[in-house]
Amino acid sequence: MKVTVVGSGNVGATVANVLATKGFASEVVLIDIKEGLSEGKAMDIMQTAHMLNFDTTVTGVTNDYAATAGSQVVVVTSGIPRKPGMTREQLIGTNAKIVKSVVDQILEHSPEAILIIVSNPMDAMTYLTLKDTKLPRNRIIGQGGMLDSSRFRYYLALALKEAGYPATPTDIDGMVVGGHADKTMVPLVSLATYRGIPVTQLLSDEAIQKAVEATKVGGATCTKLLGTSAWYAPGAAAAALVEAIALDAKKLIPCCVYLDGEYGEKDLCIGVPVILGKNGIEKIVEVEFSEAEKAKFAESVAAAREVNSKLGEALA
Ligand code: 2OP
Repeated sequence: MKVTVVGSGNVGATVANVLATKGFASEVVLIDIKEGLSEGKAMDIMQTAHMLNFDTTVTGVTNDYAATAGSQVVVVTSGIPRKPGMTREQLIGTNAKIVKSVVDQILEHSPEAILIIVSNPMDAMTYLTLKDTKLPRNRIIGQGGMLDSSRFRYYLALALKEAGYPATPTDIDGMVVGGHADKTMVPLVSLATYRGIPVTQLLSDEAIQKAVEATKVGGATCTKLLGTSAWYAPGAAAAALVEAIALDAKKLIPCCVYLDGEYGEKDLCIGVPVILGKNGIEKIVEVEFSEAEKAKFAESVAAAREVNSKLGEALA
């Protein structure tokens, strides 16, 4: 399988690196407008091949979309990352134009590709891609829920540890739905478990709330510490979506997808649980949220619609 990663910054390069080490893709192409950046990152990754024992060929090109031809999956990470104190939504003016132009060029050379959108504000960029390309919705997937769920598991594991249970993130099952946005993402506490035990049975309301709030600002906290946005977890999350598609794994993962009546919503891209396989989104899974979660999801929907309403202006 050939995979292209557009944008060779921290997130894009991490996607390429994780894909290489996982080994299921025969070819990964990194592409960026910055002269030499992709070539350098690809070379650096390839120089780990012997030590990390992988056979994936990673190449890098500067703005040469012909080199991406025939990609089955394309991960779009292009655009500027946020700086400390910024919201993802503030990036719309710059990133909307970039994402639109990148997607158009990608599809010229890989008309059958499944697109994974990572650029922020991700929910709006996924919606823009869907509207711009008019592709079937199974082929346009926004990455946010995988990352936010992984952060939720991390913070729940920390809370359980503090409460005297020796939990690690892999012991936790938990999901975040709604928009990939600090204030309005929805960690689903009602469905979160520690090896099958509802976390609500083991943690105080206060400890759960602390984990929920930490999850919601998980990206912002990293941005504050790093001076730019995070890359290991966002990169690994996008690579996990590629893997589920490449291996036709039919994994249930929360992703940003176009809703056409599911969860009572239409004409919107937002995070909900889906099954990912070789066709991209193979099924949208509708699960029961608690009453409080339903209200929060509705708020998240309203916020995502508000950001989408700014797309026209951003593209003008
Ligand atoms: C994050 O949450 C970059 O949106 C990404 O870290």
